[in-house]
Amino acid sequence: MSNTHFQLVSQRFADLATKNPKPQGNAFGRLVRVAGGRLEVSGLKAGIGARCQIDREGMTPLNAEVIGFEGERLLLACEDTTAGVVPSALVRVETISDQVSVGDALLGRIVDGAGRPLDRKPLVLDECYPLRGKTLNPLDRSAISEPLDTGVRALNALLTIGIGQRVGLFAGSGIGKSTLLGMITRFSNADVVVVSLVGERGREVKEFVEDSLGQDGLKRAVVVATPADTSPLMRVSGCWRATAIAEYYRDQGLNVLLLMDSITRFAQAQRELSLSAGEPPVSKGYTPSVFSMIPNLIERAGIVGRGSITAIYTVLVEGDDLQDPIADLARASLDGHVVLSRQMADAGVYPAIDIEKSVSRSMLQITEQKHQDQARVFRELYATYEQNKDLISLGAYRQGSDNKIDSSIACREPIMEFLRQPVDTSTDFASDLVALQNFADAVDSGIESPSSSSLSQEIMPAQA
Ligand SMILES: Nc1ncnc2c1ncn2[C@@H]1O[C@H](COP(=O)(O)OP(=O)(O)OP(=O)(O)O)[C@@H](O)[C@H]1O
Ligand SMILES: [Mg+2]
Repeated sequence: MSNTHFQLVSQRFADLATKNPKPQGNAFGRLVRVAGGRLEVSGLKAGIGARCQIDREGMTPLNAEVIGFEGERLLLACEDTTAGVVPSALVRVETISDQVSVGDALLGRIVDGAGRPLDRKPLVLDECYPLRGKTLNPLDRSAISEPLDTGVRALNALLTIGIGQRVGLFAGSGIGKSTLLGMITRFSNADVVVVSLVGERGREVKEFVEDSLGQDGLKRAVVVATPADTSPLMRVSGCWRATAIAEYYRDQGLNVLLLMDSITRFAQAQRELSLSAGEPPVSKGYTPSVFSMIPNLIERAGIVGRGSITAIYTVLVEGDDLQDPIADLARASLDGHVVLSRQMADAGVYPAIDIEKSVSRSMLQITEQKHQDQARVFRELYATYEQNKDLISLGAYRQGSDNKIDSSIACREPIMEFLRQPVDTSTDFASDLVALQNFADAVDSGIESPSSSSLSQEIMPAQA
């Protein structure tokens, strides 16, 4: 080995040692109690977040993390099931800091919550990033000033999302959250897409990678998959890891799109972890730490330096109840919410975006006045119809009684046509503005029913 090469290798080891400091002091302990997912260890000294290994009979050691302590005993949560763990098993501290390995080699790869490749190919990463991020000086953040082309007409034209914005996609189960996220993954113009699939069905991971991303989509994406059958620790770590990976690419000056499906599953996994650490529940079984961690996670997106993280989090609204505490917290912490409507999905209108209930708080900063005015007309017509829907469908409304309602009835079909977009068809920002202009012109000229073909003419087939 040449002298320079030797020095480089030594430096690399020295760097890794400082980034992944080894434990000092009491680095061994014994397992004294296992109750569900809660493991109690005595004799070990390590801080919260330290990574440990627990010896198992005839099996590979079990990875675990310190999540709390009670007196002299440390409380651990494990990455896998506790099968094979015996009383007084030896517990070792592996590392006292929670760092994530990152690097350009992650592009096109699918990893689990612990960063292990799920595609069974070797993965060599050369940098470390803090799992739970660094606190940012708010003055280092830049304002949102440019729109992101999502490739979805209803979003581009009516709920414009800015580069660096954080948006929630709210809906009950089975309304099309994952499908819409898949469309944005394929069609958006972000440089890198980091996808965190949390607590979803295992088969959905393969479907997402093969159908939603495809070969080409995967080339500019990183997928962190922690399906429902993984431990709560893995599900929570998967979300932090995906965010750390997004931060790595952001720091390279790239525009990153971070998609998390779903933040509700993150909250539920964190609830399991904190309940097992003895934290008391406060609302719907959720513990106070859940309510502090969600803003921490969300705050890591945004524009910092030359790069940005635009984040979209799906929020499962149980029983379509928009007052769910997690939905409520997410709505308050995010810069916009896109609500999907079960009624529209039932009527076969996909993506089932409820324009009346959805808001992009950054839209006014990043769009022109003309665009905003046209979008407002669209929303008013949509909302007027929705508010009088029962009267209209019962036949209780008499045409001519109210001009606004008359226009909303005339424009109903064109509005639905505007919102409809096949799952394999992309649009682009410029053509969406033209379609919105066509709609506004048709409304202005008082045409009873603006031609639907003039609205959808700009739709383009998805790129192969
Ligand atoms: N754009 C679309 N075009 C046609 N059908 C769709 C579309 N989006 C959703 N669907 C239908 O709705 C079903 C559920 O969609 P999806 O899995 O995206 O919902 P979800 O909200 O993510 O569900 P879950 O809450 O279970 O995660 C799909 O299997 C499909 O039948
Ligand atoms: Mg889904």
